[in-house]
Amino acid sequence: SPAAAANSPLLGFNPIPVSEADTIVVPEGYSAQVLIPWGEPITGSYPSYRLDNSGAEQGMQIGQHHDGMHFFPIEGQSPDRGSSTEGLLVVNHEYVEPRYLHAAAVGQALDSDGLPLKSDGKRDADQVLKEMNGHGVSIVRIANQNGRWSIVRDARNRRITALTPMELQGPVRGSDWVKTKYSPDGTRTRGTINNCAHGVTPWNTYLTAEENWAGYFRNGDRDDQKSNLPREHSRYGVSTGTSRYGWDLADNGADEYIRFDASTKAASPTQDYRNEPNAFGWIVEIDPFNPNSVPQKRTALGRFAHEGVIFQPPVEGRPIVCYSGDDARFEYVYKYVSAQPYSRATAGGHLLDNGTLYVARFKEDGTGEWLPLVFGRNGLTPENGFRSQADVLVNTRSAADFVGATKMDRPEWGAVDSSTGTVYFTLTNNTRRTAEQTDAANPRPSNQWGHIIRWNEMGDPTAQTFQWELFVLAGSESDSRKLNGKNLSADNIFACPDGLWCDAGGRLWIQTDISESEMNKGDYAQFGNNQMLVADPKTGEIRRFLTGPIGQEITGVVSTPDRRTLFINVQHPGATVTEQDFAAGRLNSRWPDQNQQIYPRSATVVITKNDGGVIGS
Ligand code: FEO
Ligand code: CA
Ligand code: CA
Ligand code: CA
Repeated sequence: SPAAAANSPLLGFNPIPVSEADTIVVPEGYSAQVLIPWGEPITGSYPSYRLDNSGAEQGMQIGQHHDGMHFFPIEGQSPDRGSSTEGLLVVNHEYVEPRYLHAAAVGQALDSDGLPLKSDGKRDADQVLKEMNGHGVSIVRIANQNGRWSIVRDARNRRITALTPMELQGPVRGSDWVKTKYSPDGTRTRGTINNCAHGVTPWNTYLTAEENWAGYFRNGDRDDQKSNLPREHSRYGVSTGTSRYGWDLADNGADEYIRFDASTKAASPTQDYRNEPNAFGWIVEIDPFNPNSVPQKRTALGRFAHEGVIFQPPVEGRPIVCYSGDDARFEYVYKYVSAQPYSRATAGGHLLDNGTLYVARFKEDGTGEWLPLVFGRNGLTPENGFRSQADVLVNTRSAADFVGATKMDRPEWGAVDSSTGTVYFTLTNNTRRTAEQTDAANPRPSNQWGHIIRWNEMGDPTAQTFQWELFVLAGSESDSRKLNGKNLSADNIFACPDGLWCDAGGRLWIQTDISESEMNKGDYAQFGNNQMLVADPKTGEIRRFLTGPIGQEITGVVSTPDRRTLFINVQHPGATVTEQDFAAGRLNSRWPDQNQQIYPRSATVVITKNDGGVIGS
């Protein structure tokens, strides 16, 4: 076995070097297989992937830009629990790349946002449909036969998109903030967008997080050239100009598209979508085993740029506890504690509708406290502009500002070590933090490399106080710090930690997302393409396990119950190509197909150990 295995009992592989190759590299003794790239048919009439698939066809295929995911075993036995050879893979699709989505866009004039606009300034309605169907979540049955994983046709295979009917639950349901033409009683909406990371409930349902939803909307309300948006739009960055993809500009004027314009001026008796953005920014619960189930937006968990959600292991008779980060510069980390106790017999989504949302304050002395965001407490009162619990939740960021939570360096994924209850969070970077704005939990000005923080609750997971420490300051060999105080080395330098997962054996998996604008350039070139590493939480030792192709980020990680198959996602390969090179057909990645006739495609990658062993061991 590899010599490097000597140090950590958890890490049994030789670390691999950084890479700039257009391929997946895994350690000696491991293999990688591509599964379910964007466009693979999974349901309906199973239309094959083609450059010119219609919008409706995209709705029967795997979406674009894979992100968080989970493997739900279907049946059978394994050394741990559930089948390790057959399951429902549930995958988020964070956003779409119009350049690769629309064959007709090749060589067609793109506006400054990279959108194919028609000469009249409108969007082609079928392109809009294709983009909306490229978003959301894929549920697909997969099976391992003779060592190869493939799609299985199954009635449970399903696409959830930016158009799928959904219900609002929890304190915001039925409130004035979410009444729209589509749902005059404020109980329903359509679709989920920008689904970044995910969560898995103790009752085995899937949660998908709505992250950068705000830019999909516009609100052009202006008063004397000054933007005049309500805080539930402005505090989240709803656009005052054009929306991200211009869905509101669809040339057929259909209701499900024009709702992305939330301007008062656009509102009329037949188009009143001033509140549509308030139906987004939530955690959405999906039952993957029931293809007819209606996804539920769980408003008690707060409204922000949810990266994902992670749970403490449930304890019979005690509340359930979960955490979620708000990924934007100077935003916060939250915790939710259910009002009702967990019972294995009755557990369900209702536990996410009634509880207390807290926001974290990290203090300089290494302790921290959870500040409740409860109407009537901590000054969250009508005198200070908060009218109800629904108001507090729709305006979660404003409430967190008011109570004085700690502004973090972009909280991305969290992970819970189920054997210790220790919680980890990645803080991916924040180059806008000044020296005066540093604090013990966000100690670096112009934090270009990011870091990982961890804490233990003082007492049980419902505690109002915790103890925290920095697990690793990411970065170069000269500017980084591991748990033992030493710097990272060639075996493990990394920057911009994002995806994070603690497997049942206690290994902490770390995935990186250096942005498209920085990747392979300047100070970031030393880290190569985005990568995945493994850490030993006890010793703080870290080893590079995987490097990805050109222009992508690695995000999403889960294993089968026996931990002998690992799934990861490669998102947005080739995204670093310039407009000029794209227009000239000079793509910088053709991963995974390596076919000059088609575009690079996001995909899931299956990793196995050639001797059949536990991944990472
Ligand atoms: Fe979608 Fe914060 O990453
Ligand atoms: Ca992310
Ligand atoms: Ca990203
Ligand atoms: Ca990221």
